[in-house]
Amino acid sequence: MGHFSRSLEPELLDHLPPQDPRAVRSRGDLRRINAIMGNARIIARHLGNATRIADLGGGDGSLMRGLAKKRNLEVINVDRMYGLEVFDFLQSPGPALDAIVANLFLHHLAGHDLRRLFSLAALRAPLFVACEPRRSRPALWASRLVGLIGANDVTRHDSVVSVRAGFTGQELSAQWPAVPGWTLLEKPAWPFSHVFVARRDA
Ligand SMILES: C[S@@+](CC[C@H](N)C(=O)[O-])C[C@H]1O[C@@H](n2cnc3c(N)ncnc32)[C@H](O)[C@@H]1O
Repeated sequence: MGHFSRSLEPELLDHLPPQDPRAVRSRGDLRRINAIMGNARIIARHLGNATRIADLGGGDGSLMRGLAKKRNLEVINVDRMYGLEVFDFLQSPGPALDAIVANLFLHHLAGHDLRRLFSLAALRAPLFVACEPRRSRPALWASRLVGLIGANDVTRHDSVVSVRAGFTGQELSAQWPAVPGWTLLEKPAWPFSHVFVARRDA
């Protein structure tokens, strides 16, 4: 069950207007895919007592809304579909944050952008939690079957592209700024996810 090299290709959802019916439908598919991947549960496990949270590329916001129903969270959804760009957000002065999360977002970024994003994020919050597609053969196989849950053409394309752009090993840890005072965790999260956590030491 070997791994394969990371490749970045454009995702269709990123180039459709937010109100396009195919984009709306694809975001619905993403909600179901997040449920199958268990991504809300995976993120929640690492959030501790964080309440003020920025969700980078949060899409329709449903994942963090689901978590906010179970605990008291104030979430800023930093998504370009609402006119917010992650680099602008992270570079600008803003409210104090307990945590920054990213779900199915980091895989859009090339290595140099990941390094830049992590450097900015480390200055903005003491906790960073990401849940991304795992770049593995089983995940690639599953991504080719999303049509079975009724996913549309946009999602069928983007899910395969996302796994190819996903992560394995310690690839995200390698991009975190090499400064003391942070504890990193990076591992597979069953069945198809890859989790990365950076926590500033107390
Ligand atoms: C695959 S979707 C994931 C959405 C959501 N996190 C989820 O799990 O359903 C990626 C999201 O990232 C957003 N996005 C991509 N590049 C962005 C950027 N530079 N700044 C802000 N949002 C961005 C897109 O608009 C899209 O909603």
